[in-house]
Amino acid sequence: MKILIMGVDGYIGFPLALRLLTRGHDVYGIDNFITRKRVQKVGSDSALPISSFAFRNSVIKKKFGKGIGFFYGDATNPKFIYRVINEVRPDAIVHLAEQRSAPYSMIGLKEANETMVKNIVSTLNLIYAVKDITPEAHILKLGTMGEYGTPNIDIPEGFFEIEYHGRKDVLPFPRNASSWYHWTKVHDSNNLMFANKVWGTKVTDVMQGVVYGTRTEEIEKTGLYTRFDIDEVYGTALNRFTAEAIINEPITPYGKGGQTRGFLSLNDSIECLTLALENPPEFGEYRVFNQFDEKYSVNQLAEMVRDLYKEKFGKEPEIVHVDNPRVEKEEHYYNPEHEKLKALGYKRTKDIKSEIYDAIDDLNKFKERLMNLRNVIMPRTYWKKSAYNL
Ligand SMILES: NC(=O)c1ccc[n+]([C@@H]2O[C@H](COP(=O)([O-])OP(=O)(O)OC[C@H]3O[C@@H](n4cnc5c(N)ncnc54)[C@H](O)[C@@H]3O)[C@@H](O)[C@H]2O)c1
Repeated sequence: MKILIMGVDGYIGFPLALRLLTRGHDVYGIDNFITRKRVQKVGSDSALPISSFAFRNSVIKKKFGKGIGFFYGDATNPKFIYRVINEVRPDAIVHLAEQRSAPYSMIGLKEANETMVKNIVSTLNLIYAVKDITPEAHILKLGTMGEYGTPNIDIPEGFFEIEYHGRKDVLPFPRNASSWYHWTKVHDSNNLMFANKVWGTKVTDVMQGVVYGTRTEEIEKTGLYTRFDIDEVYGTALNRFTAEAIINEPITPYGKGGQTRGFLSLNDSIECLTLALENPPEFGEYRVFNQFDEKYSVNQLAEMVRDLYKEKFGKEPEIVHVDNPRVEKEEHYYNPEHEKLKALGYKRTKDIKSEIYDAIDDLNKFKERLMNLRNVIMPRTYWKKSAYNL
């Protein structure tokens, strides 16, 4: 299959490209390296050192005998997207090329606008280019479990049957996001659903849980790390906790720590995306996958990091709760369904504890680097203080 990855230089895009190459696909990618720049803009950097894309690609060519067909450019430029789709004529496009940090989108109006415009426009460009050039191509779009919010009822995979005033229908499950970033994903989902209704576009809309971990088989084989962010803007809770333990700082859950989310390992995220690509929807189908493996509360994550760090180094990090910079429920019901990927054959490859253990190992090799990033871990971006900063 010819597969185009938009956002091929990112945390998920890079290891996904490696996996697809080893499975014999022709892999193409686009990126404008904006995550590298945005992370630097907030004073941070990937905790694991990552080489330039050109160097990565040269190593891949040597190891796998075949590289990634790379196009440098911005997904929000329609001419660029049309040119690439026309040149590659992909069977499938994986769209990962969006601003992916909730805190970044909440810094102020400038970042809110940037996130809103960039994310929605990139998806619309792709929708139109596929409709006009390769209408049979499969769009695999990364959304987030955060689109649903945390309702006090079970969360289905995209749609549910509802009865109101004696009549029944199957409707999209209500979305209730908790940052501008998460709302962009809701808007993308609506736009993809609409494109499917009008033009029959084949879409898999992935509601992905939080991805953790540093390793896949191919990362280990090539020695090429994927990025790993630990700062308050781009780092997930688990990434930040792991870094805090390594630099001997307290582990700092936000608020009460009862916030519960779905999680899956990097390797499992890549497995799921590969399964979705190799089992595409029919023309005219729009399907939603809830892509996560297990749910954990923030407190459970903190305790796992504490216990695993102690097991490895004999020293127990302290857990200190800090004021929650976000506006979110800190204790709530959470029960999303996730059966569709299992029906395609998805099985978990690695459990969270061994993944955290490996991440501690990998990050500990760069303790010095982490020490230099220590000032960017604690929260500085507050939902209620979101600023006008043009
Ligand atoms: N990592 C997670 O835990 C997670 C969870 C749920 C959903 N997602 C979604 O998955 C996708 C990928 O996430 P990630 O963690 O790999 O993010 P990432 O930021 O590491 O990767 C995104 C890549 O896309 C590129 N990019 C962004 N905007 C672009 C544009 N306009 N033009 C060209 N390139 C652009 C970036 O430079 C980066 O290399 C995102 O859409 C994110 O919202 C991620």
